[in-house]
Amino acid sequence: MNQIITQLEEKRAAARLGGGQKRIDTQHAKGKLSARERIEVLFDEGSFEEWDMFVEHRCEDFGMGEQRVPGDGVVTGYGTINGRPMFVFSQDFTVFGGSLSESHAKKILKVMEKAVQVGAPIIGLNDSGGARIQEGVASLAGYADVFLQNVLASGVIPQISLVMGPCAGGAVYSPAMTDFIFMVKDTSYMFVTGPDVVKTVTHETVTQEQLGGAITHAAKSGVADGAFENDVEALLQLRRLMDFLPLNNKEKPPVITPVDPADRDDMSLDTLIPDNPNKPYDMKELILKVVDDADFFEIGEHFAKNMICGFARMEGQTVGVVANQPMVLAGCLDIDSSRKAARFVRFCDCFNIPIVTFVDVPGFLPGTDQEYNAIIKHGAKLLFAFAEATVPKVTVITRKAYGGAYDVMSSKHIRGDVNFAWPTAEIAVMGAKGAVEIIFRQDIGDPKKIAERTKEYEARFANPFRAANLGFIDDVIMPHGTRRRLCRSLAMLKSKEAKNPWKKHDNIPL
Ligand code: HXC
Repeated sequence: MNQIITQLEEKRAAARLGGGQKRIDTQHAKGKLSARERIEVLFDEGSFEEWDMFVEHRCEDFGMGEQRVPGDGVVTGYGTINGRPMFVFSQDFTVFGGSLSESHAKKILKVMEKAVQVGAPIIGLNDSGGARIQEGVASLAGYADVFLQNVLASGVIPQISLVMGPCAGGAVYSPAMTDFIFMVKDTSYMFVTGPDVVKTVTHETVTQEQLGGAITHAAKSGVADGAFENDVEALLQLRRLMDFLPLNNKEKPPVITPVDPADRDDMSLDTLIPDNPNKPYDMKELILKVVDDADFFEIGEHFAKNMICGFARMEGQTVGVVANQPMVLAGCLDIDSSRKAARFVRFCDCFNIPIVTFVDVPGFLPGTDQEYNAIIKHGAKLLFAFAEATVPKVTVITRKAYGGAYDVMSSKHIRGDVNFAWPTAEIAVMGAKGAVEIIFRQDIGDPKKIAERTKEYEARFANPFRAANLGFIDDVIMPHGTRRRLCRSLAMLKSKEAKNPWKKHDNIPL
């Protein structure tokens, strides 16, 4: 017995050391934590239960038979974040560069499948040189098995990827199919083909960081939903995010009792909208002043900044906030903002998270760039996502709601449950000046007449009352009472039941 126990301890110690102290030191020298250290930061202290510590690869080619490391380059299991269960796999770069073998893939699949069965989120900490080159097609098969499981788990449990090292080639497609991707600045990168291949094929010279670093994906491509300074910050922010999310698609998100009273008025909101309708203001100020304790977890903060998306709480209940940002591109809808918000709205709908939408949108962004790159299809994604969503939807129009963009932004017509407008709202087909120049084209040479007509159009349409007359707006509310009115509406909607007609799945314009 003593001998077995000693053997067990030796095996555990070997597994814990991964590829050895020297390689762990190299990892630290790059500013990265080891796979196990990352799990320690992510989970509540002492909560991690490890599985498959003794799994080894089965490859005999290229001398691999003599190189077996218990655990085979990925640490898997489950633990808790603030007491709630979550599954994890954390790739260990010190073991064959964290590369994915057949056995490594099986370990990941085991936790993914269990996560779906028990209804708990899966978090992937990616740090890998890709397919285990020595294993060839067996490794590719392992990737495909993981991809399939990503698809089957989509919409059932939250799947979160934190890319903390290399993630290249086909390996990027597992994170790409998860709900959110976060990256760590300077130490992580994602690309389908690396700088050398790019140079050969397109003759472009580009560094790894420029091609697929955290800033590139968080600000340019939108592939990443956030970029963090270092491993510890990334893992702590992930803990914060998980507190907003339900464990699975049958549960509601956790309720965290706020300090903030639901009936708190904020008088400063009455002067948020500038007198000049062409002057921007910061929509984030409104969000922070309305939600519980000014606590807002933004998704995609550095990408398509004309649209704000993120999680907050109202009376302790998680909500997804979607808002136009008048400070950027005047809050216009364009390709990137439509894509960003559409995906966010769909996540909320999958996971029973009510959506609060703040609208100040002058329309869709004009231009050949937008048209040639399919703003029609991309804009339709957002329209589709809002329309199909059956979670509670509460909308506040603060200022402009023009044209098709009015319809898109969670309007009454696409099943907005409660639609409010501030007295400053302008709900019309377009701005008064543009409208007058079209319908009174014959008066264009007469500035006095045009000014009169513009005033007349403004008086008639640049207000919320036309829409309120028709019941498209449920009430015109004072800005200072926005939080109170939203909290009441969301409380009323808690028991909302709505269903879409039976279908295998919809055909969202992709
Ligand atoms: C086996 C690998 C490996 C891999 C790295 N290693 N990648 N072993 N298979 N894919 C090993 C190295 O041999 C080395 O072993 C250790 O990991 C660390 O690697 P280094 O090169 O020393 O580290 P670094 O300088 O940081 O460079 C990291 C790297 C580089 C950029 C990731 O290792 C690299 O380019 N690797 C190959 C990447 C690749 O082409 N992968 C296949 C992509 S195709 P020792 O013993 O020296 O410590 C793919 C297809 C997926 O993934 C398809 C899905 C459909």
